[in-house]
Amino acid sequence: MNEISKYISLKQYVPIGTPEISNFELKSEEIKIENKDEVMVLNQFISVDPYMRARMTEKKNYKEPFKIGKAMDGLAIGKVIQTNSNNFNVGDIVSSNLGWRDKYATSEKNIKKIINQDIPLSAYLGPLGMTGHTAYIGLFKIGKIKENQTVLVSSAGGSVGSTVCQIAKMMNCKVIASTGSDKKVDWLKNELNVDHAFNYKKIDNLVLYLKEVCPEGFDIYFDNVGGDFLESAIFRMKNFGKIIICGRISQMSATSAGSGLKNMAHVLVKRLTIRGFLIFDHENDSDNFQQDMTKWIIEGKIKFKETIYDGIDKAPQAFVDLLNGKNIGKMLVKI
Ligand SMILES: NC(=O)c1ccc[n+]([C@@H]2O[C@H](COP(=O)([O-])OP(=O)(O)OC[C@H]3O[C@@H](n4cnc5c(N)ncnc54)[C@H](OP(=O)(O)O)[C@@H]3O)[C@@H](O)[C@H]2O)c1
Repeated sequence: MNEISKYISLKQYVPIGTPEISNFELKSEEIKIENKDEVMVLNQFISVDPYMRARMTEKKNYKEPFKIGKAMDGLAIGKVIQTNSNNFNVGDIVSSNLGWRDKYATSEKNIKKIINQDIPLSAYLGPLGMTGHTAYIGLFKIGKIKENQTVLVSSAGGSVGSTVCQIAKMMNCKVIASTGSDKKVDWLKNELNVDHAFNYKKIDNLVLYLKEVCPEGFDIYFDNVGGDFLESAIFRMKNFGKIIICGRISQMSATSAGSGLKNMAHVLVKRLTIRGFLIFDHENDSDNFQQDMTKWIIEGKIKFKETIYDGIDKAPQAFVDLLNGKNIGKMLVKI
């Protein structure tokens, strides 16, 4: 049976500055399943992620730019509503990378069945999805975190950051968490039990502040923001400290290239390791993550919050608000 699919596409590239809702448009098209291996899926949740900002420019990045006028791809969880496939039944819950659409028709090759449904579906886009995997790989594989270390986390009230904080706490680490609102500070302190959380927007001199709240310095800095924050953190690293470069959200919409790090001497003298990583390189290394994270969520050791906007037409607003820090935890759109 034919259906109408509503989707969001990019109207034009946004090389610099913060994207606006007017950069996107809601479109629709008729869809149907025809071939033997095809299914039709009604999305339940779609993921709204900072990396999408980098795909809104024509510049070559680690992923292709979005195609103007086409549906924006990205992670989503949905339910099969029509099937020609022997491998998928109506009602199956599946994940895809087909993005910002309410429904889609596709080959079974483009979807993956989700088996454990005792956990809320949305978690498969958060702690049990790409952002949780990023926190896990970043800490264990890239940062080689050890028990009782001191860990600084930026964008700690977001999806990756809040998971990083909780894993580090499970490792008996001392966790210092930075975020951009008092509400997020409260959540980090009172529910996620970090050792110290602060609103970076209220701090005049971050280097002095970090020295005051954590005089011994940091073994690990999990960097989600880049820019001036990274430079300040370098000043406060311990000898042989590790900086995990996960994201650079403070620079993604910047209108100038910035001046670069001015304290590389600290990297040399303290023998720091600074290492970037992309989770896409670790897709085949997810078994331990899935086992551990499923257990931790069921045991209540990993808590998660979500900021959910309702309806496919709200995806652009959710994205603009994500870049402006209006989310606590994972930013999602519910269909
Ligand atoms: N390496 C990888 O493979 C990989 C994978 C996933 C995500 N990431 C990166 O990890 C980071 C977190 O991703 P996420 O999905 O969990 O997003 P998120 O942290 O849930 O949301 C983004 C947050 O960034 C903060 N932010 C925005 N502008 C900022 C600025 N100028 N300075 C400091 N903070 C700013 C805002 O929180 P505040 O209220 O704290 O300002 C906003 O809520 C992003 O940089 C993302 O690109 C990397």
